[in-house]
Amino acid sequence: MILDGKALSKKINDQLKEEVGALIEKTNIIPRMAIVLVGENHASDVYVRNKVRAANHVGIDAKVIKLDSEVTQDQVNEVIDELNNDKSVHGIIVQLPLPRHLNEFEIINRIADYKDIDGFHLLNKGRLFTGNPSFVPATPYGIIEILDHYGIETLGKLAVVVGRSNIVGKPAASLLLNKDATVVISHSHTKNLKALTVQADILVVAVGKAKLITADMVKPGAVVIDVGINRDGNKICGDVDFEAVKEVASYITPVPGGVGPMTIAMLIKNTVEGYKKQIAE
Ligand code: GUN
Repeated sequence: MILDGKALSKKINDQLKEEVGALIEKTNIIPRMAIVLVGENHASDVYVRNKVRAANHVGIDAKVIKLDSEVTQDQVNEVIDELNNDKSVHGIIVQLPLPRHLNEFEIINRIADYKDIDGFHLLNKGRLFTGNPSFVPATPYGIIEILDHYGIETLGKLAVVVGRSNIVGKPAASLLLNKDATVVISHSHTKNLKALTVQADILVVAVGKAKLITADMVKPGAVVIDVGINRDGNKICGDVDFEAVKEVASYITPVPGGVGPMTIAMLIKNTVEGYKKQIAE
């Protein structure tokens, strides 16, 4: 069965739109997110455009702060401080990757943790890791939302996560562990990946290598979540050989139309949650 992230994201966005409309009517406060975009990067430009469009769709104002690729660390820090102090801004994103001369760690952790809608701040990572999450990174959050929506059980299941990034692999592993799965994280130095993946009840793949996961690497009846976004000519494909693996898996996310649209929906959900907390104070 195909896990339809596109349809689910639409449902979530529509619910958020209704909720935001009611909140604005009640409080007269427009939710606002700020996106800091440094330098020129085509993929980042596309992502940011999609985030702005999704935010506007639900009634959130999104302001993009475009900074020159030569901007200094101090100048970026100053921008973050201003956004932290601006009460009209409820959520802050620094679009990654940043130019190499900037210290990503310092910049991300300068964002006020209660405005960190990406969930990348150390405090929010620690809260997730210790099973008391606040803002959860949008992509793994979207994965869990798909599993929950389709009633896919995680308790006692063997979940194999392929990829250990701070944005997807590690937080996905934490979330699955918090939901009582037995979790294995594999990565580029893992020996005999197939020996692990064939045992997985839930297989989450987030490495960025087209068709890394072939049908012989998947246990019959497994749930396969494909986070990859790769270019295949002028088409987009995931990390999983979809056509072959869909015959083996019980559930599988397509690319496009699976995890991708969920990521943006969950980012918007985080923004709404942050806004609600801040206007309640
Ligand atoms: N670059 C790639 N993915 C992301 C994301 O989820 N958030 C931000 N800020 N940058 C990214």
